[in-house]
Amino acid sequence: MAETAIVSEELAKKFATEKDTPYTRWVRAEGLDIIGAHYVPSLHTVELKPWARRGGKGVFINHEASRTSNDCYVCEIAPGQKLAPQRQLFEEMILVLDGRGSTSVWNDAGSRITFEWKAGALFAIPLNTYHQHFNGSGREPARYVAVTNAPPVINLYEDIDFIFGTKHDFRGRFNGEPDYFSAKGEQKGLLLQTNFVADAVNLSLISAKERGAGGGHIRFNMAKGSMNSHISQFPVGTYKKAHCHGPGAHVIILSGEGYSLMWPEGDAPRRYEWQVGSMIVPPNMWLHQHFNTGTTPARYLAFKHEGVSIRNAQGVPKAWISRRIGGDQIDYADEAPEIRRTFAEALARNGLTPKMEAAYEAELADLPPLPARSVA
Ligand SMILES: [Fe+2]
Repeated sequence: MAETAIVSEELAKKFATEKDTPYTRWVRAEGLDIIGAHYVPSLHTVELKPWARRGGKGVFINHEASRTSNDCYVCEIAPGQKLAPQRQLFEEMILVLDGRGSTSVWNDAGSRITFEWKAGALFAIPLNTYHQHFNGSGREPARYVAVTNAPPVINLYEDIDFIFGTKHDFRGRFNGEPDYFSAKGEQKGLLLQTNFVADAVNLSLISAKERGAGGGHIRFNMAKGSMNSHISQFPVGTYKKAHCHGPGAHVIILSGEGYSLMWPEGDAPRRYEWQVGSMIVPPNMWLHQHFNTGTTPARYLAFKHEGVSIRNAQGVPKAWISRRIGGDQIDYADEAPEIRRTFAEALARNGLTPKMEAAYEAELADLPPLPARSVA
């Protein structure tokens, strides 16, 4: 029995007015298409339409909880062109997908910083700073994907002029520091505090065995914002442990090829193929699991909303903790047999075999005992 919690039309109608929010009304009024999907095969080629507010082209990608948590859009700047300047009372994280260019950031106090970027760059817009993006090429378009926390902010104030037109410098976030967007950072545990990553595809990572299969990991806090993001990488012939969390994790493939399984508890896993530029947004509390079937390590960037990070009393995300002790991650020892079989079949098509034995062994060393009830 699938646990998608879909009810009758009759009951759904009783809540229809509550489904509409100031954010959903604003996003519809922007005049762009809204992709309501949990999987976009290629952000590089997804279709865009003219966006009057920004002066470029764009599309919104909204998941089922976008109206309350975080949203996503893709934007393109035509060759030789720039977007309109904008300031906003919500936060934004950006990954450059294609092309090269620059961004100017400034505040009312008159501080202004301009920095350059190219495909693979990762940065965040400091809260309520003016910012303007320029395409540095006269021949090629520049395209980026962004995740914002506009939905809760727009829902709170319900005043679009206020959201985009408030004169206030949050000096604790940005105060014109000349090196603000230099690619430096302070590493604290798994967390890198930085405002600019020049090349997310090749950034050095830290070992994170807790997620399975010899993976590398790094977490970001950018522009002193409240949203978070991380990069994970896993080796050839391996896959990560299945887990679940709240909505709004936007998983963007930076390198490699493979597939992900996503499924609501009790339902059969659904399979989504990916390559560089694919995006997967696991639905609220759906289990999901990422598999590398290619000949290179697979790396992804996850833009998240803190709301998705259900944590235990120690502050550890439950998606990192075994289901055997009440977390939201399925140990390899507890996964369904077809998980391994389908992975081996997918690898075989590329002439590869699973390289999971070390990960299975390592897990056994500190695997909690099975609780009295089944965890499968
Ligand atoms: Fe996840």
